[in-house]
Amino acid sequence: MKLALFGFGQMARVAEAHARGAGHQIGAVFTSRNAADAARLLPGHDAAIDFSVPGAVLAHVEVCAGAGVPLVEGTTGWHGQEAAARRLVEDRGGALVHAANFSVGVHVFYRIVARAAELFRGLDAYDAFIEEAHHARKRDAPSGTALVLKDILLRGLARGDVPVASTRAGQIPGTHRVGFDSAGDQILLVHTARSREAFAAGAVLAARWLAGRRGMYAFADVLENILASERTVL
Ligand SMILES: NC(=O)c1ccc[n+]([C@@H]2O[C@H](COP(=O)([O-])OP(=O)(O)OC[C@H]3O[C@@H](n4cnc5c(N)ncnc54)[C@H](OP(=O)(O)O)[C@@H]3O)[C@@H](O)[C@H]2O)c1
Repeated sequence: MKLALFGFGQMARVAEAHARGAGHQIGAVFTSRNAADAARLLPGHDAAIDFSVPGAVLAHVEVCAGAGVPLVEGTTGWHGQEAAARRLVEDRGGALVHAANFSVGVHVFYRIVARAAELFRGLDAYDAFIEEAHHARKRDAPSGTALVLKDILLRGLARGDVPVASTRAGQIPGTHRVGFDSAGDQILLVHTARSREAFAAGAVLAARWLAGRRGMYAFADVLENILASERTVL
């Protein structure tokens, strides 16, 4: 595939290395300095991958839909604008896959947490909580992944609120803990990202899946579709 990148920070650089390693070509890279060139340079790319800043996401969705280039949206902190993004994609016949977390393992973790929440439903002695930790440069808090986990817990438990604690320090690629705590014991479920490689692999997988499609998809649905058809993902 010929790919374009939006953003060229820590995550986009790992995505670039992963894509090149998998035999794909990087045709263009856009940051705030050359964002105005995107409409002219995007046509001819098979897909674009965005790991930039929340404030630029809608512009990237618009320019990709206008150029007919499918977009893998990995930036976090823009979920309040999801309806506007969907309108842009649908009005212009674009294609978009989005996720706060492109790690396949995290999506398995979501399912484990959903099942745990079901098991704790009605067990009022247990309080659920979420702790997440990321590197000091991450801008949004709580993380998009923590917000998805919170939503899963609220739906599964069908009661109360779930507190989320965020830590921003050092170089931590991303750790999420979900706990169920009572007077007598605690159950802790943990997902630890070892590097950004898993996010990059998921984003490139999503780009491959999206090329030639239209519409707006969550990565969770894409994974289900891939697993149902191919069984082996990574
Ligand atoms: N979905 C996932 O799996 C996943 C995993 C990890 C991280 N993320 C998210 O990915 C995003 C980027 O993370 P990061 O660690 O790579 O951040 P980063 O190192 O700070 O990089 C951000 C990049 O965005 C660029 N940028 C800023 N304004 C822009 C604009 N208007 N148009 C295009 N590019 C622009 C910056 O370059 P200039 O300032 O030079 O323009 C920089 O290259 C964050 O939202 C993070 O939470 C998602």
